[in-house]
Amino acid sequence: MGKRVFESLPDMSKARNRVRAPELVYENIQVSPELASFAKGKGYFIKTFGCQANVRDEEIMGGYLVKAGYHRVEEEKDADLVIINTCAVRENAEDKVYGEIGKCKQHHLRDKDFILAVCGCMMQEEGVAEKITKSYPYVNLIFGTHNTHKLLDLLSEHIARKKDIINVESFPGDIIENLPSERLDRHSAFVNIAYGCDKFCTYCIVPYTRGRERSRPLKEIIKECQELVDEGYQQITLLGQNVNSYGKDLHDGTNFATVLEEVAKLGIPRLRFMTSHPWDFSDDMLEVIAKYPNIMNCIHLPVQSGSSEVLRIMGRRYTREQYLDLVKRIRAKIPGVAITTDIIVGFPGETQEQFEETLSLCEEVRYDSAFTFIYSPRKGTPAAKMKDDVTRETKLERFNRLLKVIEETTDEASARLVGKTVLVLADGPSKKDPSVLSGYSEGSKLVNFKGPAYLTGEIVEVKIVENHCHYLVGELLEDPLLLKAKSLKKALGEEPALKEFLELEAKIGASEELRSLRKQIEEAQRKMVRLANDQEAYLLAKNEYMALMNRYQGDPLILNRNAVKEEAETLLRKVAEELS
Ligand code: 5AD
Ligand code: SF4
Repeated sequence: MGKRVFESLPDMSKARNRVRAPELVYENIQVSPELASFAKGKGYFIKTFGCQANVRDEEIMGGYLVKAGYHRVEEEKDADLVIINTCAVRENAEDKVYGEIGKCKQHHLRDKDFILAVCGCMMQEEGVAEKITKSYPYVNLIFGTHNTHKLLDLLSEHIARKKDIINVESFPGDIIENLPSERLDRHSAFVNIAYGCDKFCTYCIVPYTRGRERSRPLKEIIKECQELVDEGYQQITLLGQNVNSYGKDLHDGTNFATVLEEVAKLGIPRLRFMTSHPWDFSDDMLEVIAKYPNIMNCIHLPVQSGSSEVLRIMGRRYTREQYLDLVKRIRAKIPGVAITTDIIVGFPGETQEQFEETLSLCEEVRYDSAFTFIYSPRKGTPAAKMKDDVTRETKLERFNRLLKVIEETTDEASARLVGKTVLVLADGPSKKDPSVLSGYSEGSKLVNFKGPAYLTGEIVEVKIVENHCHYLVGELLEDPLLLKAKSLKKALGEEPALKEFLELEAKIGASEELRSLRKQIEEAQRKMVRLANDQEAYLLAKNEYMALMNRYQGDPLILNRNAVKEEAETLLRKVAEELS
């Protein structure tokens, strides 16, 4: 037997066909003693490409690795295990992945124990795993989107058998709960509400790489969100390829409006969601968004094309008119809402007139911003087999024309904010200038403003003074120190350990009995010092002192105060670390 074991390879037809209902599996992580001793003290680094679903997968894989004994390192060169988490949505995303695998060769040659794993959407495509094993023989593990939760088993197997393992399963997917997680951001969190996609737009590979649509149980979503609220998170983004299809597979009446409302009620300061499909965007959803101020007025509503004919061939299930009508409905219900989108140019056979329709739709909607893409054929999707007579030059030219229109409306939306005050969740110091903080407004505009790093994670009022189209420059309205002090006072005041500690301290201070005991203890200490040269008298004084001390320490108020003190101290230490 060779160095490599092919346990399973992807089959896109299996990904498409649902042969059984998804299973709901509650994870119970077991770390083998061999893996625990192997991983102890070792560092891991995950390089993620693609969308938020992949970022969340990175956090979950991190959770597993930490359970095994690994720790996260900031740079690839310091890692004993590198995982490349891939994206398959367009060809250029794939090219970057090959570059990244290539970069790891030196690391492999330098360190014989180094492990390189490649996982994610691209691995679910037929032929990719074989290509990687041939061109990059130093890759040790290949797995797909359906077995990220088997990461520790795969690692154990690789270590025990000293073989490289290729295991990519193709099936419509299960739902795994109780997943571990090492979140990458302490203030803003992603929460999956549904996995996969059932829409099968003809250009898109996602339904094949991430399986069919399946919704997480509402109670599990709420549990995860409640934990985030309790941990002091400021923002939750609910994730799904089509959040508004949530619940269709549950058949119990729960829908996305229910999820939004239940999560909003938990009191998270900012609630976002993505992505919404225009096809099943309900009025119930709009009602809930309009009702709760903590649901951000910002909707990502991919249009893909402005031509009804192209939309039909794309399998999008709506026409240009229906889309425009939805935009009107949204704007009527949620005044000031920011609408963003995704657009593909150069879809097979797209005519000049059809492209012009995309431009005119963008001019009409006037998006706050948009992600624009040149169509990229994805093997195994219906569009990849369609005749395409649009030349590369024409596609590029259309892309540039579209970009210009999008820039114009983005600039217009940004310009409207100049002179206004917006609320910004500070993400942290900017990479270019550490004295500048950046963050996003409620309408998802990037805002830079001068401010100290300790405001990271705070929602602050910023007055917009300059428009740079893709970002805005603003000024903090309040003194930063005062802002932080207020926020700490509020946050700490709600901490049960600190609250109890302060209450007990106040009671101890007010107790006559304890005050008198403290006086007697001080007196006994002075007596001991006075009698230090007379051993017999000294011992008597010391006994007197000890008896008083025991009485003091045994008082229920003192006992309770000491019990919570440690917890309160840990909390304050954490705050101090955060500030430093
Ligand atoms: N080519 C170009 N863009 C694509 N997208 C998805 N598939 C393709 C493809 N084959 C874009 C869509 C989608 C976004 C995430 O990526 O606009 O909304
Ligand atoms: Fe892809 Fe369409 Fe599903 Fe979005 S809705 S993930 S574009 S198939």
